[in-house]
Amino acid sequence: MKVDKIIVVDFGSQYTQLIVRKIRENKVYSVIKSNNLKVEEIIDEKPKGIILSGGPSSVYDENSPKISREIFELGIPILGICYGFQLTSFMLGGVVEKSSKREFGSANIKIIYEEKLFKNLPSSFSVWMSHSDKVTRLPENFISLASTSNTEYAAACLPEKNIYGVQFHPEVVHTEFGNEILKNFLFEICNCSQNWEMSNFIIDKIIEIKSLVGREKVVCALSGGVDSTVAAVLVQKAIGNDLHCIHVNTGLMRKNESEEVIEFFKKNLNLNLHYVDASELFLERLKGITDPEEKRKIIGRTFIHVFQDEVKRIGDVKFLVQGTLYPDVVESGAFSKNSSVIKTHHNVGGLPKDLNFILIEPLKELFKDEVRELGKELKIPESFLMRHPFPGPGLAVRIIGEVTKDKLDILREADFIFIDELKKNNLYDKVWQAFAVLLPVKSVGVMGDERSYEFTIVLRAVTSLDGMTADWAKLDYEFLNLVSNRIINEIKGVNRVVYDITSKPPATIEWE
Ligand code: XMP
Repeated sequence: MKVDKIIVVDFGSQYTQLIVRKIRENKVYSVIKSNNLKVEEIIDEKPKGIILSGGPSSVYDENSPKISREIFELGIPILGICYGFQLTSFMLGGVVEKSSKREFGSANIKIIYEEKLFKNLPSSFSVWMSHSDKVTRLPENFISLASTSNTEYAAACLPEKNIYGVQFHPEVVHTEFGNEILKNFLFEICNCSQNWEMSNFIIDKIIEIKSLVGREKVVCALSGGVDSTVAAVLVQKAIGNDLHCIHVNTGLMRKNESEEVIEFFKKNLNLNLHYVDASELFLERLKGITDPEEKRKIIGRTFIHVFQDEVKRIGDVKFLVQGTLYPDVVESGAFSKNSSVIKTHHNVGGLPKDLNFILIEPLKELFKDEVRELGKELKIPESFLMRHPFPGPGLAVRIIGEVTKDKLDILREADFIFIDELKKNNLYDKVWQAFAVLLPVKSVGVMGDERSYEFTIVLRAVTSLDGMTADWAKLDYEFLNLVSNRIINEIKGVNRVVYDITSKPPATIEWE
């Protein structure tokens, strides 16, 4: 089915992804494109509208990102936001005033002319500003739609060409009626239909995967994580048992994890699953290793060897499924080059690019919450879709220093108790991630009448949106007390429990 689409051209704003999300929440499909995109590409994609995002540059900077002038002549409605508005004005003959002073925060706008963009909105409301430069003279034939005490042209348009611009950010929650403004753009100006639905997405993907794969064999590394599971279930719907899922038990998983994952995949999801128990091999290779980076490298390499051996057993395999999400594509792609934020990536425990497979990445247009929605449509139980993230190298990065079987067993039990209590106390879904860490430090305690000298367990729980920054979770003292008591009473080898109260930054979420 053909869905209506809005192209968002990225100029490096931290809000670009948010614009896309807000549009999709209105059931209209939207994608981010680099400002280098060619006019032919736009014509090919037939978007119903184009949004030019904000960005940190000034249109007068020599290297500031621009777009092809022809975009304004295509007859496709355009909305410039902040830098996008300044660029539109500048390229169409208006004047932008360079300023080193930044206007940041709430401002009150007065609507001068309702036009379609502000249809059915109050005559004055609060908007979110975040800019330095501003438009001081509109291009010819543009009309002013709104102003603030600081910004004469807070919004403007060229009605006969459906070109609009706003100096503020309608996509952020601090702008009152921001969603209504976006909706007016989508439905009053671009005449979009609300036809972006998960069920349509599933049907389209199944057809696409079927025709790509034919009767060839496909493999997938199934860790038990949400993304790879949803991707696998979707591909299985398309090609059935030609999809071979490989679950490698690294021995570095949480308590009962591999067993539960296998049972779940085979029974609930009916996946064609190959189980490889490589736990002894991983332990052997990690023997004597204490450096965190060394651990990650060894685990990464071992994983690839084990995976490849299993693939050889399956036979001639052409395709590999990966659960890459939209933010990963955006962050590693061309779009982020205008941005002043630099993000680093973890891919330890993943697979390298040069394995000679053709990649199938069925989730690469989706955000995390959309993947969960897709998972629900695919009948994957919610308890599974809401699981906390788990790092590829597993418990190895949660045991400081050398990893041994004994320490793994202690940590698994402590982690299990913490997670169990979070679930019982309805706190599991309130934190972004929670786990235990084992410190090789021993300290003195007293148990009954006896002196003890045992390991320390750290409890770590964080709230976060995306794992890039995080705050330590302010868990209730009574709750922490309960978890601490259970750990000390039930686990031999631990006599002290501490709670990590560091945010990220300066700490990372994991301890190694
Ligand atoms: P940090 O510790 O860097 O972690 O604050 C941020 C998020 O990433 C997860 N993480 C990893 N995930 N392989 C992964 O697949 C890794 O090597 C890895 N290291 C950290 C971590 O659990 C948290 O959710």
